[in-house]
Amino acid sequence: MACFLIEGGRKLEGEVYCKGAKNAVLPILAACVLCPDVTLTNVPELSDVSRSFKILEFLGCEIERDKDRAHIKTDGIKNLALGSDLTSKMRSSVIFLGSLLGRFKMSQASYPGGCELGARPIDMHLDAFRRLGADVKDMHGSIRCVCKESNLKGSSITLSFPSVGATENIILASVLANGETEIINPAREPEIEDLVSFLNRAGADISIESGSIHIKGVRSLKKVSYSIMPDRIEAATYMAFAAANEGNVLIRNCCPNHFESVTASFREMGCNVEIYKNSVYIRAPQRLKAIRVSTMPYPGFPTDAQSLIMAALLRAEGTSVIVENIFDSRFKVSEEFIKLGASLDIVGRAAIIKGVDEIYSADVSARDLRGGAALVAACLCARGKSCISGISHIDRGYENMEGNLRSIGASIERISKEQDEKG
Ligand code: EPZ
Repeated sequence: MACFLIEGGRKLEGEVYCKGAKNAVLPILAACVLCPDVTLTNVPELSDVSRSFKILEFLGCEIERDKDRAHIKTDGIKNLALGSDLTSKMRSSVIFLGSLLGRFKMSQASYPGGCELGARPIDMHLDAFRRLGADVKDMHGSIRCVCKESNLKGSSITLSFPSVGATENIILASVLANGETEIINPAREPEIEDLVSFLNRAGADISIESGSIHIKGVRSLKKVSYSIMPDRIEAATYMAFAAANEGNVLIRNCCPNHFESVTASFREMGCNVEIYKNSVYIRAPQRLKAIRVSTMPYPGFPTDAQSLIMAALLRAEGTSVIVENIFDSRFKVSEEFIKLGASLDIVGRAAIIKGVDEIYSADVSARDLRGGAALVAACLCARGKSCISGISHIDRGYENMEGNLRSIGASIERISKEQDEKG
């Protein structure tokens, strides 16, 4: 099992480059099932992306990959049922249910896994498939969707909560359906817009209105080439690394308008943030100011940046409050922050962070993707040598994090657990 060994206390200075967005490329890879031939660029090298390619290969697709480029041919698809070996480690495996159902009128998948952030039901996904005319059966851990008619039928679907995954699955299931589908109260994250723009380039007919998304069913999709949008959460992550470590960092290859709420919070904390067309420059003070943050659906403050901003607030002047409104349990990393000397209380959906003067190195463990990245931010500013285990969680969503951090002055290396135990 690999770990990160970090020598904290160094200021971060220099430039980092964002890669393609994990939460855009994953639904787009599931959407490839609907197209005969797809060429993608700016594909990040992440373990979740490799898992999605494994699913596509299992289905029967032909895959060619070369660094950030991928070519996917789908006319060989013959399997339509995904087992837990393919779905148990990744939440976004559930998105294949919609695309397989949309093209082949049948799909089956074991319940998805992924980061443990509390209950993560898929009731909205399954209710939507039923509204489109599919027969959906829960077969004790595996979901089977079948359209008994010749095709799915467009419908009006209202989401009780703007679920990102449910919005994506409804779009994928309805692109080739008969008639029009309307999603009321959809998720509006930029990753949804990227999925829609990919599908429209392949010949779909989807429009995003102010409070709804309209999908006019088409007969088929065509060959398409597409470049994945930059990762806004990776950009937010490097802003947090800089903010927590008196950083002076230019974050390139990003879309600043995709994370304006994050920029606003770092400015409130006392950071100087300059916005350019495809980059953001952040310079942090020696000590940050405490703030209040509530996570909300886009364009509100993203839940995926919640642990990261918490890491930056551990040594802020004053007491901060973070309210997590999206997931039931996304404060697990706080137990690890306390091992570093942080002063934190969790009260229901709120985390109360009393800023301390110093945090200290310790051996800590990543339990989920963004919590793991937040531990890196905290260990970078903790005095002494820290070891973070469980970094396979981090590899799910960040390409070469240690290389990027070393390029801006951090002391971080990836070691095997055995190396760490040998000392
Ligand atoms: C996507 O997860 C992202 N994952 C998450 O990023 C992100 O945190 C989340 O959206 C919110 O922005 C990917 O895109 C692969 P949801 P998803 O459906 O689709 C409840 C990361 O770190 N809900 O918007 O699973 C659910 O329990 C990951 O990159 C239902 O109750 O999120 C949660 O409380 C973590 N029933 C809330 O909605 C449903 O049928 C939001 O979930 C579906 C969701």
